[in-house]
Amino acid sequence: MNKFFVATPLDFEKRTLAEMKEVWPYLLGKDAKPHSLPFPEVAVLEGGLEFETELFIGLQLNFFLKTANRILLRMTSFKAKDLPKFYQKFKGLPWLDFLPHANVTWEVAAQKSRLNNEKRLQESAETALKEIFKGQKGTESCASIYIRMDDDLCTISLDSTGEHLHKRGWSVLKGEAPLRETIAAFLLEEMIGNTSSAELAGITLLDPMMGSGTFLGEARALWAGQFARDFAFKKWKRAPKLFASSSFALNYTLPARMPFKAYVGYDIDADMIPAAEKNFAEVERQLQVVQRAGFVPAPHKFIHGDALKLETSEDGPVWLVVNPPYGERLPVADQGGLKTLVKELCLRHKPQKLGVLYPEKERLSAVPAGYKLFKEIRVNNGGLRCLFTILTRL
Ligand SMILES: C[S@@+](CC[C@H](N)C(=O)[O-])C[C@H]1O[C@@H](n2cnc3c(N)ncnc32)[C@H](O)[C@@H]1O
Repeated sequence: MNKFFVATPLDFEKRTLAEMKEVWPYLLGKDAKPHSLPFPEVAVLEGGLEFETELFIGLQLNFFLKTANRILLRMTSFKAKDLPKFYQKFKGLPWLDFLPHANVTWEVAAQKSRLNNEKRLQESAETALKEIFKGQKGTESCASIYIRMDDDLCTISLDSTGEHLHKRGWSVLKGEAPLRETIAAFLLEEMIGNTSSAELAGITLLDPMMGSGTFLGEARALWAGQFARDFAFKKWKRAPKLFASSSFALNYTLPARMPFKAYVGYDIDADMIPAAEKNFAEVERQLQVVQRAGFVPAPHKFIHGDALKLETSEDGPVWLVVNPPYGERLPVADQGGLKTLVKELCLRHKPQKLGVLYPEKERLSAVPAGYKLFKEIRVNNGGLRCLFTILTRL
């Protein structure tokens, strides 16, 4: 058994746990068939989830968790108040099983500890690795090692993810102020809540200010794996062999789900239309590769226009999700701001549900007639304190 830590943005922990529960039965055993391990006991901590499971299983969560930042393999944790003890413990870890050489990237943080000099901790760990690998030093970094000292407790972890998990490997073009994919997935999952798959399948998702289409692409791929990007663990010496094959993703038996009936996006900036088209096409292409015969192309329309002049007339209910420009850049900034924007969007597009992300200080002061407040969620959007307000039609 190995201990894993799934790092999440603050307050995303329970959502990530729900994703983990949903995907758990579909993870593969070493025979490339769904495994039968019970769901582990998970400690929900501030900023992540900690649990024990087989190495083979824990690593696969990288493919499926949409709201997590990264997945660390806990190598050990121990109390240490002096550098020789730290050095001994670090050197005793099975680095030869994982790393091909001693060229690694370091993430060191120390607080409230006797050993609080991060530079010295790193130097000591570097010396230990050099001795273990006897001078074998690759030309580029082969892994990231995390060292945390907190209250004299040292935790050493190996990053299994590599590039942050919000890098899905399918957003090829970005507009101005793009939303991080992990945040988009979190907000969509919050909006969906307990809505059944059958109900969702009849709903059109509209983003009237879509930019490069992050919400729409994330919604399309909510319950699918991401296999086209690289992951750090694939470079490990103990990387499970199954994942070395280019077609391993075909072994997953997750149903090919298309969460919404159709995906519609508008943007006033003409350049955003081809960008969103390209990103969405890449999501579809990647899904098709793994879903093969089960793949059904998603109906979608990306239209150049002003969301405050266009009218939406889709068959069946529409859900609207929007991340408008903030502050003075809001199209109706001098005509009532956010309150007017939301009222106009409700009038023109008649959503059954609406989710809007905006800075906390611009709080929505009134809910438009015919709607009620369903939920309000605090989100840190790139360092800015924001609210995601969800309204539903009465
Ligand atoms: C904050 S960005 C959205 C970013 C998007 N969520 C993404 O991840 O790429 C806001 C977008 O609203 C668009 N926009 C501003 N006013 C608009 C309007 N009246 N109608 C349609 N789009 C508008 C801008 O061109 C910009 O692309």
